[in-house]
Amino acid sequence: MEKILNKEIKGIIEKHPEVGKILDEYGIGCSPCSVGSCLMKDIVGIHNLDPQQEATLMYRIEKAIYPDRNVPKPKVDLTKKAAPKKISYSPPVKKLVDEHVLIKRLLALIPSIVSYIEKSAKVDKDLVLRCVDFIRNYADKYHHMKEEDILFKYVDENAEIIQIMYKDHDTGRNHIRQVVEGAESGNKAQIKEHIFGYRDLLTQHIKKEDEILYPWIDRQLSDTQVGEMFRKCNEADASVGDALPRKYENFIKELEGKFQKEVVK
Ligand SMILES: [Fe+2]
Ligand SMILES: [Fe+2]
Repeated sequence: MEKILNKEIKGIIEKHPEVGKILDEYGIGCSPCSVGSCLMKDIVGIHNLDPQQEATLMYRIEKAIYPDRNVPKPKVDLTKKAAPKKISYSPPVKKLVDEHVLIKRLLALIPSIVSYIEKSAKVDKDLVLRCVDFIRNYADKYHHMKEEDILFKYVDENAEIIQIMYKDHDTGRNHIRQVVEGAESGNKAQIKEHIFGYRDLLTQHIKKEDEILYPWIDRQLSDTQVGEMFRKCNEADASVGDALPRKYENFIKELEGKFQKEVVK
């Protein structure tokens, strides 16, 4: 078992795809993980399973890898399904989770926006650039910068999961550069490919943060660190003022008014 725990998850899943399926059952989505070089022990630690779940998971994985090995059964009820976990966040982390909600409202509108662009004779450049402005100034500068400049500094920034988050932020920025290029040149296919690329990426990214990364970081923070982080996040927010989140919330409401009505039609 020690050997399995110190192996890279990607290699294990490539050799034994059923391990990916077992992990999926526990809500540990390592098969589609963008890097996948995390060690098995880190994966298990990050997901904070209860002892019964962890013992069962490790038993099933060891049996999947070594079907002929006489693996001792854990003294737990192997039929017991994992109960959905209620996550409680510290106040500064909860604020970041709340910011995801506004970003997810834009992501939900992207299919309607794309179909509107496809149907229009000419690309509505102003609309695309206003969405880009939201993504760059709210999702990226206002939200991702607090993650990168404050939150991630409280944990080992070389940890695989943090590296994946940085990579996702960069991939998102590249998609948005392509969307701008598409808007400037009136290339509908380019806009569609990259705005959908951004949507898929951010949907998974936010899910990873809400369900795995943020709780993992919260578990490592002392009360003093939570207080300090709260102060730093509040200072970062105060430096841009209340007007910025209000402006972008109004923008999303305006888009919802326009595009949700179109969907209903
Ligand atoms: Fe992020
Ligand atoms: Fe985030």
